[in-house]
Amino acid sequence: MVDESRRVLVTGGAGFIGSHVAEAFLACGDEVLVVDDLSAGDPANVPQGASFKQTDIVDRQALADLFGAFSPTAVCHLAAQASVTASVKDPAHDLSVNVVGTFNVVDLAKDHGAPVVFASTGGALYGEHALRPSAESTWAEPLSPYGASKLAGEAYVRTWGSLHGLGNVVLRLGNVYGPRQNPHGEAGVVAIFSERLRRGEPVTVFGDGHQTRDYIYVADVARAFVLAVTAAAPSDASLTTFNVGTGEESSVLDLLDTLQGLAPARVERVFEPLRPGELTRSCLDSSRLRSALGWAPATRLGEGLAATYSSYSGA
Ligand SMILES: NC(=O)c1ccc[n+]([C@@H]2O[C@H](COP(=O)([O-])OP(=O)(O)OC[C@H]3O[C@@H](n4cnc5c(N)ncnc54)[C@H](O)[C@@H]3O)[C@@H](O)[C@H]2O)c1
Repeated sequence: MVDESRRVLVTGGAGFIGSHVAEAFLACGDEVLVVDDLSAGDPANVPQGASFKQTDIVDRQALADLFGAFSPTAVCHLAAQASVTASVKDPAHDLSVNVVGTFNVVDLAKDHGAPVVFASTGGALYGEHALRPSAESTWAEPLSPYGASKLAGEAYVRTWGSLHGLGNVVLRLGNVYGPRQNPHGEAGVVAIFSERLRRGEPVTVFGDGHQTRDYIYVADVARAFVLAVTAAAPSDASLTTFNVGTGEESSVLDLLDTLQGLAPARVERVFEPLRPGELTRSCLDSSRLRSALGWAPATRLGEGLAATYSSYSGA
């Protein structure tokens, strides 16, 4: 049921997933404020109807001023240093944004009595030896500074729940893909492949291409945030951590074959070594989210890949 008075603050809403989350709340009739420093995001991603403030979440005073002016009833926290490779190169920056920044968001949300839904990661937490599909009870064994900082962020979210009664939900996302993912970064294989295939340029495959991920379409992820905000009422301080994935493993070569089938010309495949900090296999068990909030992925991989491919122009 939609609460007509919801004011949702979306950090990272000029980025890929955050922009879809902002759009999903606007579609519910909610008021949305996007906060993003544009270090990786693009103001063009902020959906029409949302307000936008360019602010660094590490800047406590600037963020406090925004919280004071907007007075959110819920916070979706997606702003992050979101690249595994970048976290290996500069772990101090990763720590600053993903731990100090998350602390600022969570602590200010507590001051305003606004429940927090935190975008964490499934793939980067469960490690190489996890049973697959991995349940939330799987021991966290991060392989990268990014996985470590997300785990620390989760700990602050949950601790502020138990210590201060802050309503909270942690969503551990699989590999999210869909329109608006940056095709020029180091991550986001579907976006990168789509753009290269559109241009007829060679694609780089790291490792042997048999490494797997749980690819989840961005609209399904955005729906999970809406359900989570509805569930994380301020009075509900229960500890709630959910995987958000399909439970299906797909390899990089599976993706490439499907996307290649949509492209007009066959492109060359260049193989390079797997990058440090990257897992070889990952797949999430989301049955807890299904039973608690009635969430299920609605988009089949083939359908989502086709929609994503057609959203890139290759220009
Ligand atoms: N893409 C995935 O497959 C995936 C998987 C698991 C978890 N996540 C998490 O989901 C969230 C969104 O990821 P994404 O793929 O949309 O990445 P993204 O880089 O597109 O979005 C992150 C946004 O955060 C902003 N940002 C970075 N540092 C900031 C700061 N200091 N202050 C304010 N804004 C800042 C960036 O400008 C960007 O717009 C992240 O928290 C990420 O860790 C993503």
